[in-house]
Amino acid sequence: MSRQDDMPAFKEIFKAAKHVVVLSGAGISAESGIPTFRGSGGFWRSYKSQDLATFGAFRRDPSLVWEFYHYRRELVLTKKPNPAHHSVAELEARGDRKVTVITQNIDGLHQSAGSKNVIELHGSLFKTRCLSCGQVQENRSSPICPALHGRGAPELETPRRDCIPEDKLPRCSDCSGLLRPHVVWFGENLDKQVLDRAGEELEQCDLCLVIGTSSVVYPAAMFAPQVAERGVPVAEFNMEPTPASHQFTFHFEGPCGTTVPEALKLD
Ligand SMILES: *[C@@H]1O[C@H](CO)[C@@H](O)[C@H](O)[C@H]1NC(C)=O
Ligand SMILES: [Zn+2]
Repeated sequence: MSRQDDMPAFKEIFKAAKHVVVLSGAGISAESGIPTFRGSGGFWRSYKSQDLATFGAFRRDPSLVWEFYHYRRELVLTKKPNPAHHSVAELEARGDRKVTVITQNIDGLHQSAGSKNVIELHGSLFKTRCLSCGQVQENRSSPICPALHGRGAPELETPRRDCIPEDKLPRCSDCSGLLRPHVVWFGENLDKQVLDRAGEELEQCDLCLVIGTSSVVYPAAMFAPQVAERGVPVAEFNMEPTPASHQFTFHFEGPCGTTVPEALKLD
C-alpha cells in the first residue's frame, strides 16, 4: 500500500509535471498572520463578518462596510507572503512548466510573492468595482480615500462616529459612481468567467496541489475530485490529518510554509 506522505514518490511525479494547478485556501494566509474573519472568533466590532460581507449591508451602510474592508486592506498591507507563497511563485518563474494558482484568498499574497498566473475565485481586497459602470480596477492606495484615513479600528467606537457620506467614499474615476470592494459577498455567485477559466486549467493540469485547505472542504472540494477522476495526482498540504478519502494521492501534514518549499525544491 502506498503511503500518502511518500515524498520521494511525490517528487518523481512533480519533476515530470508540465502543468501544475495550485488550489489555495485560508490556511496559507493564516501562516502569514492574516485572520480569516470567518467562523468562530471572526468578529469585527460587534459584527460577524458574515453580516457585513453582503450587498444588503453595503446598501444599508456603505460607510460601515468600507470601514471594514479598509481595515482589512490596511492589515494585509502590513503582512508578507510566507515560504509557501514564495516557492509557488518561484516554480512559475522557472518557466519550465505552466503553473496556475486558483485561490479563495482575497489578500493578493500570491501576487506579492511574484505569482503572475492567479485566478482569484473570491476577488481581491485590492480591486474595486463601480456600481454604475461595472469597471473593475486595481487599487492598492493606503488609505483608499482620504475620508477612510484613521477609520476602521476593530474596537467598538462609542459613540460611533458619523458615517462617511457616500460622496466621500471611494468613487469611480470614469463615471464617479460609488465603488464597492471587488469581492464575492455572501449570497453572491462566483463570477462565471472566473469559474470557466478555473475549470479549463483543472481539465488540462497533470498535477494538482491543494495548499492550506483540504480537498474535501470548499473551495478545493469543488475542483479536486474533478482532477482526481481523470487519474491526475492530487497532493494536499495542510495542518489537518488526512480525511478518510482514497481518491487523493498525497497528503503532507504540517505548516505549509515548511512542507510546500520542501516538496517543490528541485535540484
Ligand atoms: C484608488 O481609489 C481612490 C478612490 O476612488 C482614488 O482616489 C485613487 O486615485 C485610487 N488609487 C489608485 C492607485 O488607483
Ligand atoms: Zn464607473
